[in-house]
Amino acid sequence: MSSFHVKAIRSLQAELSVPGDKSMSHRAAIIAGLADGQGVVTNFLPSEDCINTLHAMAALGVAYEVLEEMPGFGPTVMRIHGLKGELQAPSKEIDCGNSGTGMRLLAGLLAAQPFESTLFGDESLSSRPMGRVITPLSQMGAKIEAQGEKPGCAPLKIYGQKLKPIHYEMPVASAQVKSAVLLAGLFCEGETTVVQPADTRDHTERMLEAFGVKTQREGQAIHLQGGQIPQARDFRVPGDISSAAFWIVAASAMPGSRLLIRHVGLNPTRTAIIEVMRRMGATINVVSSGSLDGEPIGDLEICGAALTGTEIYPEEVPNLIDEIPVISVAAAMAQGKTQIRNAKELRVKETDRITTVVKNLRLMGGEVEEFEDGMEITGGHPLRGATLQSYGDHRIAMAFAIAGLFAQGETVIENTACVNTSYPGFVKHLQAVMNHETDPAAYELPKSAH
Ligand code: S3P
Repeated sequence: MSSFHVKAIRSLQAELSVPGDKSMSHRAAIIAGLADGQGVVTNFLPSEDCINTLHAMAALGVAYEVLEEMPGFGPTVMRIHGLKGELQAPSKEIDCGNSGTGMRLLAGLLAAQPFESTLFGDESLSSRPMGRVITPLSQMGAKIEAQGEKPGCAPLKIYGQKLKPIHYEMPVASAQVKSAVLLAGLFCEGETTVVQPADTRDHTERMLEAFGVKTQREGQAIHLQGGQIPQARDFRVPGDISSAAFWIVAASAMPGSRLLIRHVGLNPTRTAIIEVMRRMGATINVVSSGSLDGEPIGDLEICGAALTGTEIYPEEVPNLIDEIPVISVAAAMAQGKTQIRNAKELRVKETDRITTVVKNLRLMGGEVEEFEDGMEITGGHPLRGATLQSYGDHRIAMAFAIAGLFAQGETVIENTACVNTSYPGFVKHLQAVMNHETDPAAYELPKSAH
């Protein structure tokens, strides 16, 4: 079983780019596959999650040619031949692996198709709540059976049929649910509306727009007229800010560090990590910025400092949800208390991320109080190396690799193959960061994970 062995470094001086955005790669595979015509997707994330979604689209009849690959992982550039919205019945059950995004978005898409299909996933995914998509899709007329051992959980047997549009007020702030309903709404006659209780990532709306599908935003409501067919185009996926977050935290919490991250997505529904690190005392500059294929992108310069604790505001939580494990590591390094509340959603991610963060931080000597909806971390206690479990959760494995960069003695993280779920090449970047400390001449951080 693979593991990380991490030792402390004194500062981080690096320039890097991270692999493509996970959320956008799922959507690019789906939307390009639905489009009228062919287009090239560049910087696709060749992670297990996104490759599963690509394979799912292939199982629905979408052809693609791989033009470039990240060796050992999978395609990064491919030409996708869209089916003009006319998907074919799959010949077998569709494997979504570890991915909640893949399963929920595909459930929306498949509920509206004139055929039956089944989505299944690994043990973690089979225990995550699918009722949150089944409820609105059922209101649209879908017939979906959750066949898992746990009620409301995968496998999902989907009896696809013609759906009717709805006006849906989401009880949880979930981009996955919003996207599932919008994708189903594409196949309805009339207007589908989703109202979100707080801002959630808006990649689906932006990518649909980029592919010529109009959506309208009115306050927290998103409206979409059914019957539109995405028009094929080329699409470049920016670097994933949720992957960059590991290095942003490492550099932010090490005084004297300077890190440059190139070509990362800076969509405002994803950048709260920058605000939080600034509040804690780091200097983060957007040194160049622009927009590419409908998404804001740019380069970030991060200068480290002695951090102080902060409070995470309720409205920030959906924007930060994937970064909270690594923010908790920053909090352990900061002087004073950091409050993370209103984050119950963490309990239904790849693991219960409140429990897994609290367990690992405590094993390293961190002081943390657990709440049903979050935690309070009292920082400033020196962290000590420990042997930790990833619990099969990619973000837990990587967050605690970063904690190991601050700890006295060696930190071992066990069961780390899961990082390939979102960040193929993470171990290379980690090794480059650690080698710098022992042999500056050998320090060549790859400019990308390729
Ligand atoms: C995602 C949305 C988030 C996030 C997940 C990816 C997406 O989940 O945690 O990693 O691509 O839509 P929720 O929207 O369900 O909170």
